[in-house]
Amino acid sequence: MSSCIDVQYVTKSYGKTVALNDVSFSIPCGERYALLGPNGAGKSTTLRLLVGLLKPDTGTIKIDGHEPFSAQAKSILGYLPEDASPYRTLSVRENLEYIAALRKVSDVKGVTDRFLDWLSLREYERAKVGKLSRGNMQKLSIALALIHSPKIVLLDEPLNYLDIPTQENVFKMLKSMDSTQIVSTHIMSIATRLTDKVLMIARGRIVWNGTIDALKAMEVGDESIESVVARLMTDAR
Ligand SMILES: Nc1ncnc2c1ncn2[C@@H]1O[C@H](COP(=O)(O)OP(=O)(O)OP(=O)(O)O)[C@@H](O)[C@H]1O
Ligand SMILES: [Mg+2]
Repeated sequence: MSSCIDVQYVTKSYGKTVALNDVSFSIPCGERYALLGPNGAGKSTTLRLLVGLLKPDTGTIKIDGHEPFSAQAKSILGYLPEDASPYRTLSVRENLEYIAALRKVSDVKGVTDRFLDWLSLREYERAKVGKLSRGNMQKLSIALALIHSPKIVLLDEPLNYLDIPTQENVFKMLKSMDSTQIVSTHIMSIATRLTDKVLMIARGRIVWNGTIDALKAMEVGDESIESVVARLMTDAR
């Protein structure tokens, strides 16, 4: 199986803060991974490196064999940043149609209509983004990340702010896609709904790369999976 995401010996610092320290992992094409880790662990930094917004200090990253900042990688990546903000002076529909056109989607109007319905944004299609509620802005940001059916999907805490029906729609949407996916989250139940594969970072290092079943096997007595995860994260200190 070929790797769609390959990270080898990557270190990244911001000034004196070492955000990632000698991180290596590889994700086969078509696999879906949850990215877990405590606050400040390096999750968002990892995703920013994968989309080429940051360059590693040392080490290499390949996206389907390409450099992350190359045109080839950009065309197959869909990325939701943790502080996603669409164009505030454009309407919801204008944002979708503009990004779809930039992404060279063939049926711009059809795809826009589909996302408006999937994410229950139809009633806001003419509203300016600056006037949307935080949750509706998050729905639009998710749509903008996925509108070109990217081969590789990187979502930084996508379910933040979303109501429960929309969370369910996003689960369905992600599970129906055959893309390679990394989804960062703090909520274990979100991870288990999405996938069985977990990558866990703590203090800039990978502390777990494996299945949720294997994590469950580490439960002691009636310990919860959250407690096992907390233990792994804390042991890394
Ligand atoms: N732009 C920046 N400038 C300086 N330091 C930064 C910057 N972005 C992140 N850091 C630092 O790098 C480390 C990793 O941060 P990162 O945002 O990747 O963590 P995270 O796992 O996404 O955390 P959270 O769960 O809080 O979103 C932290 O120590 C953070 O303070
Ligand atoms: Mg983050």
